[in-house]
Amino acid sequence: MNITMIGTGYVGLVSGTCFAEFGFPVTCVDKVKEKIDNLKQGIIPIYEPGLEEMVKKNAEEGRLFFSDDLKDSVRKSDVIFIAVGTPTREEDGSADLQYVYAAAKEIAEALTDRYTVIVTKSTVPVGTGRKIAQIIKAANPKADFDIVSNPEFLREGSAIKDFMRPDRVVIGCETARSQAVMEELYRLLALMDIPVVYTKIETSELIKYASNTFLAMKVTFINEISDLCEKCGANVREVAKGLGLDKRIGSKFLQAGPGYGGSCFPKDTMALVQIAKEYGSPVRLAETLVDINEKRKKAMATRIISACKGSVKDKTIAILGITFKPDTDDMRAAPALDIIPVLQENGAKLKIYDPKGMKEGAKLISNVTWCDSSTEAMTDADALVILTEWNEFSSLKPESFKDIMHGRIIVDLRNVFDPVRAKEAGFDYNCIGR
Ligand code: UGA
Repeated sequence: MNITMIGTGYVGLVSGTCFAEFGFPVTCVDKVKEKIDNLKQGIIPIYEPGLEEMVKKNAEEGRLFFSDDLKDSVRKSDVIFIAVGTPTREEDGSADLQYVYAAAKEIAEALTDRYTVIVTKSTVPVGTGRKIAQIIKAANPKADFDIVSNPEFLREGSAIKDFMRPDRVVIGCETARSQAVMEELYRLLALMDIPVVYTKIETSELIKYASNTFLAMKVTFINEISDLCEKCGANVREVAKGLGLDKRIGSKFLQAGPGYGGSCFPKDTMALVQIAKEYGSPVRLAETLVDINEKRKKAMATRIISACKGSVKDKTIAILGITFKPDTDDMRAAPALDIIPVLQENGAKLKIYDPKGMKEGAKLISNVTWCDSSTEAMTDADALVILTEWNEFSSLKPESFKDIMHGRIIVDLRNVFDPVRAKEAGFDYNCIGR
């Protein structure tokens, strides 16, 4: 069974590579020729643990191919995944589907009389699958195809593991023929007793938005509880533990921090709000959490300024971590992008270190000193701010770095340090939720 994966972003590249790892011949297609040329040479456009090795292995073993010729690849394929971007529209927060529809049109023009299953892997609003079917039928009335929705639930930083061992696979398909194809694609996972849930297309499309919004809501809930903890003397870590042990709630996604970021939660929560409005069935919880999260990210800058005794003017601040989470170089909607400009407007001098995010960061942040290590960033700094919980920051010992710093202030927005140890080392230690 030949697969075409359209789009070599996070979802497309990881899914395509993992399907090749399952043993299927996969061609990953992208319009950006430079990206394809690089991929052919084993140069991966993103940082994702284990991905480079897996791409190289499958390419060498003759199952993974790269091409900028969509039509050629489509003609030879039994299954075509659409995994192009669905960015947020500035005007109203809805998902911009222009790339999805453009791909659908191109697919339609290339379809032969071979039966083809066209699958949306991108996160697409409810109703998109049906619209794609209309576009294809209009452009190629004789095409023999079915539309399937198969949203992806992988996380950046653990994408391969998430794809190969998901909690579940969700498939929206409405014909026996397309279901048989999807069963074959996910046979290995079904054999491992991973639940494969078959639904209507609309249901599958909505499951993706509901999942991300629910997770974003858990994070937002614990963030608000952490504010309350600070006021009332409770400890958010212990509250989260006590909460999460209730199996109905679960312990994951209860880590308080500076607000959620990334390419998915902010985009998908806003899109769900729009989808619900369009159907005249508002999701007020989602509307509220979008608002809380935006304000929270901005409020973190005020928190840092307060920790610096009300002013950061001419103070040197070391910032460790700028990516939206560890183990990625992705800066999309990272809290750093809300916090750093406010510190700069208030006159702070910033020294920044991130293990993987500085190349992306340099495209978005200017007038800062980029450092090669955490030690270089902290040297002579008046204050230290932790924005991302990379492992290498959790292993730093406050008593060991205190002498290279000029000041004794830590603002730890990811709770990576032990407060007792930081205070014993002489720091004025500020963290989240205690
Ligand atoms: C998220 C979902 O977790 C995936 O299931 C989904 O497939 C993906 O979006 C997507 O739609 O493509 P991702 O954005 O990679 O994955 O990252 P998460 O690990 O979910 O983190 C999102 C944000 O929430 C980050 O800013 C993270 O720091 C924050 N977060 C997460 C917390 O602040 N606390 C937590 O306990 C968990």
